[in-house]
Amino acid sequence: MNLPAAVASKLTTDAMKRTAGTFPTGVVVAAATTADGPVGLTLQSFVSLSLNPPLVQLSVASTSGSWRAIKAEGGFAVSVLAQDQAELAVAFGTRSRDKFAGVELAGASATGHPEIQGALAWFDCEIAAVYPGGDHDIVVATVLDAKVDDRAGEPLVFHRSGFRHLEPAPRTANTPRPSRSSGRLNRLGTKPSWTRESA
Ligand SMILES: Cc1cc2nc3c(=O)[nH]c(=O)nc-3n(C[C@H](O)[C@H](O)[C@H](O)COP(=O)(O)O)c2cc1C
Repeated sequence: MNLPAAVASKLTTDAMKRTAGTFPTGVVVAAATTADGPVGLTLQSFVSLSLNPPLVQLSVASTSGSWRAIKAEGGFAVSVLAQDQAELAVAFGTRSRDKFAGVELAGASATGHPEIQGALAWFDCEIAAVYPGGDHDIVVATVLDAKVDDRAGEPLVFHRSGFRHLEPAPRTANTPRPSRSSGRLNRLGTKPSWTRESA
């Protein structure tokens, strides 16, 4: 990647980190069962990429030992952490030999990868492609199965280098609310997306 020298030299890593940190994300643990035992790491870079085919995307530091082991395995399970799982996020977000010590598992995915107890949801993933992304690998994975815990708790949120909890936003003039127009078709000929579930 060729960057203009002036741009490359002006932006510090710290400024990049601080600016990127203003964008809040959820937190997941990606984990795999290997011949040497389970491996896993905390990620905030998890996104849903495609519905058909079902794909998710992660970016993982190419230096990560856990990622190397997961990549060799060819697949992994993603656990979406709940708001009371910050300690777990730190444990899986720090280089250590046995991240699974004392960790309660909900079970294993259909492909045999560890699913963390108390998470909000789990994805069973098979690695479809890995692309270079600077000092990270961009991982695209096919979702073989996805399930949500019925208790539907609140997610753990990561923002400005810290963990947060979600709160409902106060209604504003711009907040779409189900009303008489609820269920009507919009100009594109579809129902507004926010009415689909409640309509
Ligand atoms: C909240 C949080 C989010 C993280 N997100 C990412 C991420 O998106 N990508 C990444 O490569 N590392 C991320 N990390 C750091 C990795 O989890 C960490 O480097 C890894 O667990 C190191 O262990 P390893 O050497 O076994 O790979 C995150 C850490 C925390 C605490």
